[in-house]
Amino acid sequence: MGEYKIVVTRKIPDESLDIMKKYGELYIWPEEEIAMPYERLKEEVCNAHALYTNVGDKIDRELLESAPHLKVISTMAVGFDNIDMEYARERGIAVGHTPSVLNETTADLAFTLLMAAGRRIVEGADYIKEEKWKSWGPMLLTGQDIYGARLGIIGMGRIGEGVARRALGFNMDVVYHNRSQKPHIEEEIGVTYCELTELLQTSDFIVLLAPGSEETRHMIGTEQFQLMKKSAVFINVSRGTNVDEQALYKALKEGGIWAAGLDVFEEEPISASHPLLSLPNVTAVPHIGSASIATRKKMAMMAAENLVAGIKGEKLPFEVQA
Ligand code: DGY
Repeated sequence: MGEYKIVVTRKIPDESLDIMKKYGELYIWPEEEIAMPYERLKEEVCNAHALYTNVGDKIDRELLESAPHLKVISTMAVGFDNIDMEYARERGIAVGHTPSVLNETTADLAFTLLMAAGRRIVEGADYIKEEKWKSWGPMLLTGQDIYGARLGIIGMGRIGEGVARRALGFNMDVVYHNRSQKPHIEEEIGVTYCELTELLQTSDFIVLLAPGSEETRHMIGTEQFQLMKKSAVFINVSRGTNVDEQALYKALKEGGIWAAGLDVFEEEPISASHPLLSLPNVTAVPHIGSASIATRKKMAMMAAENLVAGIKGEKLPFEVQA
């Protein structure tokens, strides 16, 4: 056992715990699906040197102020919008994350949601289970064509590229909007840059992949939903805070857009009584974009490697570049 205290806010795979064990005394929150309460975490970090966290923990200034010895925060996620990066920098706390490894897995989920929402898969499955199916109907549970449709991707990072590659197999016409234009991607994959307004007005499917930040908060709201086609299918696998959920609810309820596939929500976990979940044209899953067994194991390992490097005072192999 080393001289450091390491706080781990979830039960994680044993292999990743093993590599951290050598460097310190581990406190591990024993639950996998119940978040460590904020106040409990605050108590535990007061004498900690390293924090192994995830997207479900709020690592704000108040929490960091109660952790005067903290050298490193390692999140088992690519996104770090739950961490007060400015204050962490000010304090000289190294912050690590898990980029790249989850790109294809998350692109798989984005495309799964696109197909499921477009073709009403969950609604159809429920229809059978609820014994509503009486006979074949000419227009029963009819959805939107995916093959040959136009896909608009907002946020063309690596996950966006993965979604675009998948879409080409469905002969989709792929357009994208991004802070900066990416000519090499346009050439390599055959996608076209588009202003946001045009993308929203002309796309049959829209996949939102912009990172979560103050800048992108509610970037999709009433105005943007009003620009979309009434037949549009909207997918969000980025951050719930990027979308104004009240505006989304209104658009879905009043026929402003056709359907939504959602992996992320303004508040997580979303309550089962949230109005969005009462709509038949919403396909919702609980923030599982990167949740394949292999990818989650790799993420757990990368986060452990970041944490160990931070404890040793070395450069983190996957340091947040923000
Ligand atoms: C991330 O990594 O940021 C995802 O949202 C969780 O896997």
